[in-house]
Amino acid sequence: MNDINVIAIDGPAASGKSTISQLLAERLGFLFLDTGCMYRAVTLAALRRGIAVTDETAVTHLAQEIDIDIQPETGAGGRHGRHSDGRHYTVLLDGQDTTWAIRTPAVDAHVSQVSSYLGVRQEMVQRQRLLGARGGIVMVGRDIGTVVMPDAPLKLYITATAEERARRRWHDRRRQGHEADYDAILADVKRRDGIDSSREHSPLRPAADALMIDTTGRPVDEIVEALMSLVKGQYSVSSMQ
Ligand code: CDP
Repeated sequence: MNDINVIAIDGPAASGKSTISQLLAERLGFLFLDTGCMYRAVTLAALRRGIAVTDETAVTHLAQEIDIDIQPETGAGGRHGRHSDGRHYTVLLDGQDTTWAIRTPAVDAHVSQVSSYLGVRQEMVQRQRLLGARGGIVMVGRDIGTVVMPDAPLKLYITATAEERARRRWHDRRRQGHEADYDAILADVKRRDGIDSSREHSPLRPAADALMIDTTGRPVDEIVEALMSLVKGQYSVSSMQ
């Protein structure tokens, strides 16, 4: 039986990968790391400091300089007080809580450009590998199985149609109490897919040995159960935290 301590999960925006990964991590007692948060934090930092997202050099320096900390919520509501706002983790940018600020349409609009820069990617990948080296982790993103953790014993590529993904994002935004326009969200999902898949550095694509999972019309719980059976049947789980 193979030993498993890292699960690498990739896929396009709103494919259900974050929800599935969080549940898997919880069931396995693994840490959950959503690497998209890190690119979102760099983007937010640029917007807040008035740095043009088209200025690759300035954005790269910024990525090297900022402190990004992702803290799991504890049962008591997190280390930063009681949170009842539906968060699963807290994202601190230079010590400031930016968990929701990184999810705004302004960040959505620019994050793919920021994450297309080689220097930004190199910095984030280095930080992600350090976190991954501890083991006992489910890491989610666009290039985890291909670049960040190519030796992960289990790699998943989670996808769904653009329409289904836009519907999910629409519901997410409504649930958070925001106005949401389905057509605009669908256009943004497709636009980001295009940039993420065609960029020069670490484009979004499944690793050759990734298990492909299409979540269109399939309940999350059913997929998680199937994955848990697979993990339990084929791997021995070892958390090295
Ligand atoms: O939540 P959603 O799936 O919409 O996106 P995300 O996972 O938060 O990632 C936001 C953006 O960051 C993506 O559209 C990618 O451009 C970029 N990203 C990346 O390039 N590499 C990663 N490992 C994770 C995210």
